[in-house]
Amino acid sequence: MSVMDILVYPDERLKGESLPVDDFGQEFQEFIDELEETRLAGPGAVGIAAPQVGRRIRAVIVDVSKMKRPVPNHGYLVLVNPEITEWEGYEIGREGCLSVPDYTGNVIRATRIALQAQDRYGEMQRYEMEGFEARAVQHEIDHLDGLLFVDRVVSRRSDIFRRKNYK
Ligand code: NI
Repeated sequence: MSVMDILVYPDERLKGESLPVDDFGQEFQEFIDELEETRLAGPGAVGIAAPQVGRRIRAVIVDVSKMKRPVPNHGYLVLVNPEITEWEGYEIGREGCLSVPDYTGNVIRATRIALQAQDRYGEMQRYEMEGFEARAVQHEIDHLDGLLFVDRVVSRRSDIFRRKNYK
């Protein structure tokens, strides 16, 4: 296992659609383990998406269970071919991204979502989630469609902030 390189904005490879996963074999299992290792190597990253390491496949990892201030969560989630099926409410919140290391941004996201996704073994799972976990999942799924949070802010002038230090 090894930590992979993270593509950084404005790398063109972060744009564009990723392809569905249909092979859940050993190579994919090893990839997911390396993706998680790469997430954990990043500073405080609650999520990572396959395209961020140059793999254009629809797989993300989200884990908001280790937040300093606890939030409702489902623990460590591998979401493969995820699809949001319901959205409810909206709120503005601050987001960061391993691919945009020097900035954070205020982004509007749904407060609650219903989601279906396969797990790392291809089994279909359904989740209902809210708040920061729902935000993190919406952020990661955006990566699968080639979108970064900087593409989602209302105003690049007033909604993007330079980090003083990453954490
Ligand atoms: Ni991101």
